[in-house]
Amino acid sequence: MGQVYAKVRKCFESVRQKTDFVPKAAIVLGSGLGDYAQEIRVECELPYAEITDFPVSTVPGHAGKFIFGYIDEVPVACMKGRVHYYEGYPVSDVVLPVRLLKLMGAEILFLTNAAGGVNTSFHAGDLMMLRDHISVFAPNPLIGANEEELGPRFPDMSKVYDEELQMLIRRTAKENHIFLQEGVYAQLTGPSYESPADIRMLRLLGCDAVGMSTVVEAIAANHMGMKICGISCISNLAAGMTANPLSHKEVQEAADLAAHDFKKLVTEVVRQ
Ligand code: 6GU
Repeated sequence: MGQVYAKVRKCFESVRQKTDFVPKAAIVLGSGLGDYAQEIRVECELPYAEITDFPVSTVPGHAGKFIFGYIDEVPVACMKGRVHYYEGYPVSDVVLPVRLLKLMGAEILFLTNAAGGVNTSFHAGDLMMLRDHISVFAPNPLIGANEEELGPRFPDMSKVYDEELQMLIRRTAKENHIFLQEGVYAQLTGPSYESPADIRMLRLLGCDAVGMSTVVEAIAANHMGMKICGISCISNLAAGMTANPLSHKEVQEAADLAAHDFKKLVTEVVRQ
């Protein structure tokens, strides 16, 4: 058995000592979006710290837990808090939770995040559906000996964000009068925000939003054959686009602005 797979199995067995819950969908809640957990009919909660070998975040307010429960009749596993590469974890640990969720039974992965707006038509508080991503600024989580238990050596990446889920998200937004941007998300390592020149470069490359998560998770989930979709909450306009310096406080403020639409969108998509 490969090393990475063995570690995920160990976490899986640790989880199975606490719960038999089998999720159909998994939802990763981004910074500021943790309140979504209140929408779930909770069956059980599992703090990450109680799972053997599971990576636990060092960022204040990120210390997390799994919430297992139901949205309508759909069994979901929700991650409140995730670990980031900038915390110093190997990227294999950063994507371990997603691999664990697949082992538990999740077929669909709903990734969410807070992101800086790069597209000049975006505003703080906008929601953006991911059509694609730029991965070249983040470490690839599949580097190392390929573990066939997880997936193939050279996975195709031409349709990471499931077309059907994209159509469903688009339709749900329309039916509920939710204004939805769409675009390309780039993951940078962080933890420093981008400089104005970084942002001009990203815009030239066709990037609409920028953040510090999501892409590595999407790569690992795609490797395992999960159906993936993603939504960014635009927390601010990136450096050089406004007169103000960037701050972590804006992330929560923008998430609060978007909270109502975000809840409706995620819940309706999961239900359907
Ligand atoms: Cl402006 N940049 C990055 N890298 N991540 C963010 C962000 C900006 N805003 C929220 N998350």
